[in-house]
Amino acid sequence: MVTTTSFNTAKSEEIFSAAQKLMPGGVSSPVRAFKSVGGQPIVFDRVQGAYAWDVDGNKYIDYIGTWGPAICGHAHPEVLAALQQALQKGTSFGAPCLLENILAEMVIEAVPSVEMVRFVNSGTEACMSVLRLMRAFTDREKIVKFEGCYHGHADMFLVKAGSGVATLGLPDSPGVPKSTTNSTLTAPYNDLEAVKTLFANNPDSIAGVILEPVVGNSGFITPDAGFLEGLREITKQYGALLVFDEVMTGFRISYGGAQAKFGVTPDLTTLGKVIGGGLPVGAYGGRADIMSMVAPAGAMYQAGTLSGNPLAMTAGIKTLELLNKPGTYEQLDRITKKLATGMLQVAKDAGHDVVGGQLSAMFGMFFTNTSVHNYDDAKTSDLKKFGRFHRGMLERGIYLAPSQFEAGFTSLAHTDEDIDATLAAAQEVLAEI
Ligand SMILES: Cc1ncc(COP(=O)(O)O)c(C=O)c1O
Repeated sequence: MVTTTSFNTAKSEEIFSAAQKLMPGGVSSPVRAFKSVGGQPIVFDRVQGAYAWDVDGNKYIDYIGTWGPAICGHAHPEVLAALQQALQKGTSFGAPCLLENILAEMVIEAVPSVEMVRFVNSGTEACMSVLRLMRAFTDREKIVKFEGCYHGHADMFLVKAGSGVATLGLPDSPGVPKSTTNSTLTAPYNDLEAVKTLFANNPDSIAGVILEPVVGNSGFITPDAGFLEGLREITKQYGALLVFDEVMTGFRISYGGAQAKFGVTPDLTTLGKVIGGGLPVGAYGGRADIMSMVAPAGAMYQAGTLSGNPLAMTAGIKTLELLNKPGTYEQLDRITKKLATGMLQVAKDAGHDVVGGQLSAMFGMFFTNTSVHNYDDAKTSDLKKFGRFHRGMLERGIYLAPSQFEAGFTSLAHTDEDIDATLAAAQEVLAEI
């Protein structure tokens, strides 16, 4: 058992136990409850840069970054200043505003597949809307998704859906009608042959393929050489659409997302997290001929009271401005590589079987000796050991995602000293677990 004497979480425990009577599981989103790693979750008080402070005054180096958005560091002073200015003009318009044009232009310029974009309020909303659009445009119902990929919590995606669902050990969710998921076909990630078979068996009924171009929701998994290109070819061959869910990878793997990094352009893309700079924003976009089907330009209905909200647009614009400066992605890559390779080395030196890696500002490490190409490989990890590792790191002030099936995130605020401190903590913990 890894424990440190100075780690006091009395206030966190008090608040979380009250929360459990007020909200299901005491949280507003399941993975935050630490179910898969055990122990009480930490209740946050404030965040700044690469750090978070809990209600007991403990400070953490944060590698979750509010699950991705905080790529410039939490509470970046320029984002806060822009928000303060925008606040003076009101919090919501429910009418067209110039800020939407500005963020839309930035997204269109950055992301190769995006010629037109629709803003929504979350990644879930982006994915459920893009699915309707895929079906509307092709007049076909079936979709292909990959085991362990998460596309938000809408019914038709809650099939083999990765982290949150896997963490709770729920194969699917009660309440999802079979009729909804009947048209969701699944294949193992990185398995082109399985996708070819699905298309061969359903040549005229698959609307498209949706995937995380780099997976973060089964832990961190990269596409094998030729996988994304293969999907592009197969979808074209069958008149189906290719959709990259870049809610996590957008503006993180590179300024243009995974599609820019790998040079494969899908028909449609979903975005979220980073484009909201910490406020609730999602988006879907792509080829203008497809996007022109979205209401009111076209017949596919989708709407939102708070969509295009001026505060959310402001945080997104400022965040993208900060990211679009020379050297940012080189810095993110350098610091994350130092962390990921250092972590693997420290773990191996301590005698553990580990595999893992990093791409730009996203990283992961599995406690397994199997090379991980898909969700089944990821599931060979020693989850109990991960739980001990997570708790030991937490007690030493390192805040990692509370699940083996989540990727880690770095930011422009993480320093070399932060990485050194993280590796030193890991060395201690890995010697004891
Ligand atoms: C790849 C991917 N798609 C969709 C979503 C859903 O986004 P949200 O949590 O904003 O609804 C997530 C959330 O983690 C995600 O990682």
